[in-house]
Amino acid sequence: QWTTASIVDDTVAAIREQIGDRRAICALSGGVDSAVAAALVHRAIGDQLTCVFVDHGLLRSGERAQVERDFVAATGVRLVTIDAVGRFLDALSGVTDPEEKRKIIGREFIRVFEQAARDLQAEAGAAGEQIDFLVQGTLYPDVVESGGGTGAANIKSHHNVGGLPDDLQFELVEPLRALFKDEVRRVGLELGLPETIVHRQPFPGPGLGIRIIGEVTAERLATLRAADSIAREELTAAGLDRDIWQCPVVLLADVRSVGVQGDGRTYGHPVVLRPVSSEDAMTADWTRLPYDVLERISTRITNEVSDVNRVTLDVTSKPPGTIEWE
Ligand code: XMP
Repeated sequence: QWTTASIVDDTVAAIREQIGDRRAICALSGGVDSAVAAALVHRAIGDQLTCVFVDHGLLRSGERAQVERDFVAATGVRLVTIDAVGRFLDALSGVTDPEEKRKIIGREFIRVFEQAARDLQAEAGAAGEQIDFLVQGTLYPDVVESGGGTGAANIKSHHNVGGLPDDLQFELVEPLRALFKDEVRRVGLELGLPETIVHRQPFPGPGLGIRIIGEVTAERLATLRAADSIAREELTAAGLDRDIWQCPVVLLADVRSVGVQGDGRTYGHPVVLRPVSSEDAMTADWTRLPYDVLERISTRITNEVSDVNRVTLDVTSKPPGTIEWE
């Protein structure tokens, strides 16, 4: 009989077998998947694991603090944070194609990790052992949707599958590769991770970079971050977090429409709310959010986020839409 406890035990044993007494680094994204993968590997090999959190500037508000504070408190894991905002924005400059964005973000991720691994080794000095393994929170649906499963078309290059460079210098450790999200959450709770991490709604590795339709710039990121933060606050206040799978907020950065506020004409950008209900993200239905919640989100975003003068609702299921717009 498969219980969550037995999944944990079997996975921990398999990780010990794979890594032995060597060293690993783990890419923490701030999301559930990489947090659970890291906690599993930490249980298996303790301080042979170092977690690396890259602040690529595509994060939502509060995410860096959550990783630095809550995750470390729950696991005791060793964490290095790398500030790479400028590097990612430079690499994304002028890029509008979704797949190109994903590939660039995936590539930069790996390059930053490789540098982090080299730095960690240099720190350890001559006695420091090589870091051979890279832990990733790849789930079963990521593998399938990137064309890695049997017979599936490549729909999107998930940053941690299709975006890996050919000359990757690490052996991958992917303890969640056979699991769906609900199983991952159960494993996380079994490992003692806090609810704030385990029941966090999914957030894609490429972050806000694939929720800005058009070029990614620091200014657009600030706009989207503000709108996203309002939507999340209101959904949480309405007690809806556990009813929806996730609610991406998408900035249509190249679209403008005319509005009016006070006595003045505005010519701002629309954002799209994309609330979805799902079991595993392979299919999804658009969530029928209560009108009063939609109204509060819309009123607050248009009042508080200066570049946004229109809030729209995406009422498309998956298929035919995907959850993220890019
Ligand atoms: P789509 O847009 O393909 O999204 O319907 C399905 C689920 O996967 C998340 N997603 C990602 N997660 N790296 C991730 O870790 C990615 O590159 C990525 N792209 C999409 C998305 O938020 C949804 O939950």
